Amino acid sequence: MSQTWATSHGLDLHLDRSLTRVRAGLESAVREAIRSGRLGPGVRLPSSRVMAADLHVARNTVAEVYTQLVAEGWLTSRHGSGTFVADRPEPAPGIRQRTHDTPPPLVHDLRAGRPDLSAFPRSAWAASYRRALSTAPGSTLGYTDPRGLPELRTALADYLARARGVRAHPDRVVICSGFAQGLDNLAHALHTVGAGAIAVEAYSHQRYRAIVTAAGLRTGAVPVDEHGADIRALTGCAHLSDSGAALLTPAHQFPTGAVLSPERRRSAVAWAHRTGAVLVEDDYDGEFRYDRHPVGALQGLAPDHVAYAGTASKSLAPGLRLGWLVVPDRLLDRVIGVREASGQLVSALDQLALADLISSGGYDHQIRRGRLRYRWRRDALSATIAGHAPQVRVDGVAAGLHAVLRLPSGTEERDVVAAAARRHLSVEGLAGYADPAGLGDRRQPPALVVGYGTPADHAFTAALARLVAALEDCQRRRQGARALTRAC
Ligand SMILES: Cc1ncc(COP(=O)(O)O)c(C=O)c1O
Repeated sequence: MSQTWATSHGLDLHLDRSLTRVRAGLESAVREAIRSGRLGPGVRLPSSRVMAADLHVARNTVAEVYTQLVAEGWLTSRHGSGTFVADRPEPAPGIRQRTHDTPPPLVHDLRAGRPDLSAFPRSAWAASYRRALSTAPGSTLGYTDPRGLPELRTALADYLARARGVRAHPDRVVICSGFAQGLDNLAHALHTVGAGAIAVEAYSHQRYRAIVTAAGLRTGAVPVDEHGADIRALTGCAHLSDSGAALLTPAHQFPTGAVLSPERRRSAVAWAHRTGAVLVEDDYDGEFRYDRHPVGALQGLAPDHVAYAGTASKSLAPGLRLGWLVVPDRLLDRVIGVREASGQLVSALDQLALADLISSGGYDHQIRRGRLRYRWRRDALSATIAGHAPQVRVDGVAAGLHAVLRLPSGTEERDVVAAAARRHLSVEGLAGYADPAGLGDRRQPPALVVGYGTPADHAFTAALARLVAALEDCQRRRQGARALTRAC
């Protein structure tokens, strides 16, 4: 691809300034310049800052236009080198009209699960990585302890004790490739000690139910309400009470956003104590609590009965694939055995970099920044919904990177999801997280699970505007249908 430079002075954009919507005008001006060939493939566009200054528009507007046109295929963006006209832009509308079965490109993403990747601390990580690389003895680059390097296990044991109240000795910390692999290790270990089944929250990731099933465990569903997993089911239901384990998200139930009540925490530990079961604590976003101090980990109450699992997927980035377990003594050898048998090791340099980031204070700094960012976003989401869609209720504690939006009765989740998709916004319904086999009459009313972590800062407000517009579309349609019924 030839790369020619176009400064905003040389870039001939026919921008209709009479348009009240500057963003739409700029979007079509860039499209038109590409379509007409005035901007050829490979041409580099000015940075959003330069273009904004030249055209006297807000920088966010230009950034949003670039994001939109990248998603539509007109432009490509290469991190660190800029935004370019794509090699094969989409054929102009009219040459090949989009058919009804071609879904519109999804530009804005409010699905739960990802942090803001643009907030990854690149400089701090690079500095930690460089220090790790320059000081690591050669032996760390060989095959290492299947639990991970002592440097990271020690740093994590200290950090988890301080930040999450976890009782961890470095010997019982196991570094794994994200929570998913840690869960796989625990499930296989539980299987080898004779656990036949694991109780899983009735609303949870299908992915994790699949992981434990693949390890040979049956699953049973624990109902979930506003106090978190209903632990009474573990003692009261015959098919759950003899499960050898339960997988819980006590600090922030995923996806409903409830916190496991103190009484239920005690009941869960008592059940594990009485039956010898293991509680697997998925503490995926425990550090992110905004209305008060984070609730400490359940593991702190009963280290012999709880296998604690944490991850860097929310605090740093899921692509690092770094997670950790704190394993009760009785399962430790089994977990190590599972890792040895399948040759699972985590990159030594990544481990050393994370150990350095934690001990240099960079990890705490990143958590503090994340708390500020996501708290602001959660508040913005709540204020926007209260102001523009008051029929919708924001639910779940002020924590983590997602919230649940309870929809007014009579609204179908799939209608809102489809209305959002028509506005190029990706969002999910709560029902998609339900264990179809385990709900009985405990199905929750319609709701959306909204992840406010994913969009970059500049795209967040636009994503919220699209969400509100989708909710309004559905509200209007419902009102229209009601009026029609009355008229008939
Ligand atoms: C409930 C829950 N647990 C754990 C994780 C982290 O998984 P991993 O560490 O495998 O990326 C996520 C991430 O989306 C999650 O939603």
